[in-house]
Amino acid sequence: MRIIISTTGECIRKAAAAISEIIKRKPNATLGLATGSTMIPLYRELVRLYKKGEIDFSRVRTFNLDEYADLSFNDKNSYHRYMNRNFFNKVNIKKLNVHFPASKGDEYEKEIKNSGGLDLVLLGIGTNGHIAFNEPGSSFNSRTRKIKLSDSTIKSNSRFFTSARRVPEEAYTMGIKTIMRSRKIILLAFGTKKSNAVLRAIKGPITEKIPASVLRQHKDATFILDRKAAAQL
Ligand code: F6R
Repeated sequence: MRIIISTTGECIRKAAAAISEIIKRKPNATLGLATGSTMIPLYRELVRLYKKGEIDFSRVRTFNLDEYADLSFNDKNSYHRYMNRNFFNKVNIKKLNVHFPASKGDEYEKEIKNSGGLDLVLLGIGTNGHIAFNEPGSSFNSRTRKIKLSDSTIKSNSRFFTSARRVPEEAYTMGIKTIMRSRKIILLAFGTKKSNAVLRAIKGPITEKIPASVLRQHKDATFILDRKAAAQL
């Protein structure tokens, strides 16, 4: 596992450069994509590179990591909406090549397999150490499935909703095993709020209580951290 610690801006540039390099090497690369506030500046940077003519997404295939259950795709808090607004509508990706796990389990696994497997998974980290919506206690052998969100995730994500009561209690998520099969993994974490989860993921025991700790067993995983997220290391 590699750890890169830098300014937030430099972290974004490094992650975007890694994605760009993968797509240059393999124009039909398969990417697992996260949403959330951490990814917004990264998608902005990818859009900038696309507009400069440095990345061509026309053959890229994407598999989002997660989506709320019981939320229409057009809901302003759905991850479909987030991805369209922040990324897909701004680059030349083909909508046919975009995939979400909503209502899917094994079928999503098959779609990933049929596309040749994931070349890169881009992850954020929850304050409780979750990756995608694999909450603490998720099996390291888990695959794409419907899960119940933890109280801490509902509380944390309620910042996007009018109240915590409006946050869906369930979601679909790519499994930990599915993520670990990706050829490359990049986890981004910014800000003091993430520093304890980062510490436990990198220096604590490898345990299902901290799902991100499993990444230490991957042969090509990189944690890209800003100085605040790395402060407790
Ligand atoms: C979202 C996802 C989540 C987030 C994590 C951090 O698709 O997979 O695991 O990456 O909850 O979210 P932010 O970036 O909003 O702090």
